[in-house]
Order: sequence, then C-alpha cells, then structure tokens
Amino acid sequence: MATDTSKRDNRITELLRRREKHFAGSFLLYQEPVEIVRGEGIWLYDSQGNRYLDCYNNVASVGHCHPRVVEAMHRQASTLNTHTRYLNEKIIDYAAHLAGTLPEGLDVCLFCCTGTEANELAMRIARSVTGHRGAIVIEHAYHGNSTLVGELSACTYPPAERPDHIATMEPPNTYRGSFRRGATLSETELAEQYAAQADPAVRQLQDVGQGVAAFICDAIFDTQGTLDAPPDYFKGVYEKVRAAGGLCIADEVQAGFGRLGEKMWGFELYGVVPDIVTMGKPMGDGHPVAAVVTRRDIADAFMQKVIYFNTFGGNPVSAAVAETVLTVIEEEKLQQNALEVGRYLRKELDRLAEKHPLIGDIRGRGLFIGIELVKGHQTLEPAFVEAYTISEKMKDDGILIGSTGRFGNVLKIRPPLVFSRENADLLIGSLDRQLTAVLN
Ligand SMILES: Cc1ncc(COP(=O)(O)O)c(C=O)c1O
Repeated sequence: MATDTSKRDNRITELLRRREKHFAGSFLLYQEPVEIVRGEGIWLYDSQGNRYLDCYNNVASVGHCHPRVVEAMHRQASTLNTHTRYLNEKIIDYAAHLAGTLPEGLDVCLFCCTGTEANELAMRIARSVTGHRGAIVIEHAYHGNSTLVGELSACTYPPAERPDHIATMEPPNTYRGSFRRGATLSETELAEQYAAQADPAVRQLQDVGQGVAAFICDAIFDTQGTLDAPPDYFKGVYEKVRAAGGLCIADEVQAGFGRLGEKMWGFELYGVVPDIVTMGKPMGDGHPVAAVVTRRDIADAFMQKVIYFNTFGGNPVSAAVAETVLTVIEEEKLQQNALEVGRYLRKELDRLAEKHPLIGDIRGRGLFIGIELVKGHQTLEPAFVEAYTISEKMKDDGILIGSTGRFGNVLKIRPPLVFSRENADLLIGSLDRQLTAVLN
C-alpha cells in the first residue's frame, strides 16, 4: 500500500533514514511508524505528544514501567548483578515461587533470556532424554528465531524448505479448518479428528529415522489466528506423542502468566500436564528473562549428559524483576482481572458482531482475543485489507491493536493485564467506528 509521507514530521523522516542505514530490514508496525518514547500502565506516548491505549503489548504484562518492577530492578542493579554460579537467594526464591504456580512435579527451573532460548533448550532436553531428533509442530507456528527453533517456526519459511526432522499438523481451527464447529461433529469428535493429525506426523518422522523427540505447541495458537481448540484436543495429541516416545512441550511464551484468565497457564485449560514448560515475554515486564521448567527426572537425565550454563539467564537483576512481576500479578489480582475484563470485552465484541457482518468469528480467552474478519460468512474469504485498514485507523484513534493468522485477517487484542472496563469501552468505540468506516 502506498504511503503518504507528505505530512511526515522531520524527526521521523530522519530517524527512518538512520534506521534504514544501520538496520537489517526488521519491519516496523504501521504505514506511518510511531516513535514511542514513554509508557505508563496501559498507556504509551509518542514523540509527537500523542497518547495511545495499548491493546497489543503482552510483554509489559503488569503495565508499562510498573513502579514496583522499576524499583526492584533499580535496587538490585545498584546492589549486585552476577550470574547463577554464586549462591543467590533471590533466584532460588523465584524458582520456588514459579514452581508453586505449576502442577506438582514441574518444579525444576533452567533460566535463560528469551523465548527462543527457552524453546531451544527444551528441544535439546527432549532430544537428549528421548534419543530421538524429530519435532511435531502446528502449521504456521512461531516459536523463535535460532537455527533449530527457527525450523520449528513453520510460519517463517516455505514448506518446501522444511527439514526432515520437523513434521507439521493442521491447527485445530474449528472455524475454517478441515473439521468445523456447528456442523455435525461433537466437541469430542472434533478433538479426535484434529488430534488424529498427529498420527501421520509421527509416522513421517519415524519413516525418515528421526523419531519423535517432542511435540511443541502454544495453547492460544497466536500465529494461527488465536484458536479455541476442542477441550480434549491436547489430551489426544499428548497420548499419541507419548506413545511414540516423545515429550510434550507447552510453549507458554504467549499464553502464560495469567493472561487467559481462568488459569495461570494455557495448557491447564485443557486438563493436561506437559513434560516441559517454556516461558518468556511477560515474565519480566519487558526485562529479558525466560525459563524452562520440567520434572526432576527429565532435568537429571539431561544434566548427566551436558553442562548447561547461561551467563545472563537468572542473574540477580532478572530474578528480582521476575519475582516482582509474579508478585504483582498475584497481589494486584491480574489473572482475575484478565478473566473479568476479558468476559466483559467478549460480551461487547459479541454485540459488535451482531452489527458488523465483517466479523466472522471471535476467539480466545481472558485478555487474548482474536477477531476474524471475513467478506462472507459462507465463503469465509479473509478480509485482510479491511483488517489492515482497521488496525491503521484505530492507531489514528489512539488505540494500538495487531493482526495475525495465516491470512493476516484476525485482529489481535492482547493488552497489558491492567486493562480495565473503561479501557475496553474505548477500544470497542473505536473498533465500532472503524468497522463501519472501512466499508464506506
Ligand atoms: C509462542 C512463542 N514462542 C516463542 C517466542 C519467541 O520468543 P522470543 O522472541 O523472546 O525469543 C515467541 C515470540 O513471539 C512466541 O510467540
């Protein structure tokens, strides 16, 4: 789409020129990029003096620049920052606190700095413990950017380039996938049909001699357009993966830390217990801290074969930040807030759906919602341009959202967890206006 640069501020023009010179092509959000210079709670402020309601950034989970997080970071950075090779009570306290939020048995933590690193380590553990090398991932998944994890991230390269240690499964998309809700299939049958997609994936990995080391999945299916899998879906897949000798990895980088409202962790919504859980993004409210949590038997089997050390992972400053974030989530009841405000938002969105036929489907839990836009409820033709335009225009209204999914036609609402009903009303007002405007 052509960009009208005639009204562009000189400062933005200059920043873009310098960025282009020194950056390797990382893309910017919005046709007319924004220079965000300050954040506070749910609000972001740009260099032009505009204020934006942040409905997009999940990393700042407890709100931008939360004073307790900033204070904890400052205090610890002013005292000591080393690594996990000296005894440090803070990281031990945090490991125990974190383990206490997970099902019994998942209580051994390995710390790192990014979601990619956590998934890389999880895969390394799975390969080492199972003796297999293959991984099953969901089509169009994203799990990170290292060599191995980049290969798991099926949305980042053409299927023809997929290495033979990766097999994909169709996502459980009951709106536009092979098996759909509202037809003749019950939820149990839908779960069985989609879980059965693991069978050919297992066979494919076994046939090429890779075997199944792991199945890795994000329970909110962010890059697939935010999906509500049938309740027994994960039980079915986990059973098949374990029967093939593989481990089940729950990638909670998006779904974890209370965002989905009902439960602290995404996999808990489906009544399964993974062998390995990975987490990152919201864990440090913007500070780079991530972790792998697993069982003692798995960790010990791995540690017998390798030495794992991560210079920055779990350092005292990261530990102080992560501990404060988790405490704030608990003390400010942010999981409960995600549940309540998420329900309110969903009710308001359902109301909008009655008014705007462009809305084909609304999915997600708590404060992670996807709104799929389609040109026709029968054809399900993706309304990509409309989704793009709405997201751009909402920015001009002072509301930041995103878009996702294979066709880029799913509006993504994923605000910091301090999102209030009043914030939801502002979002709904703008969305309502732009859903009307985009068709005129
Ligand atoms: C589900 C999921 N896993 C892992 C990652 C990778 O995390 P990071 O960017 O911190 O490496 C992402 C990032 O978007 C993600 O969405």
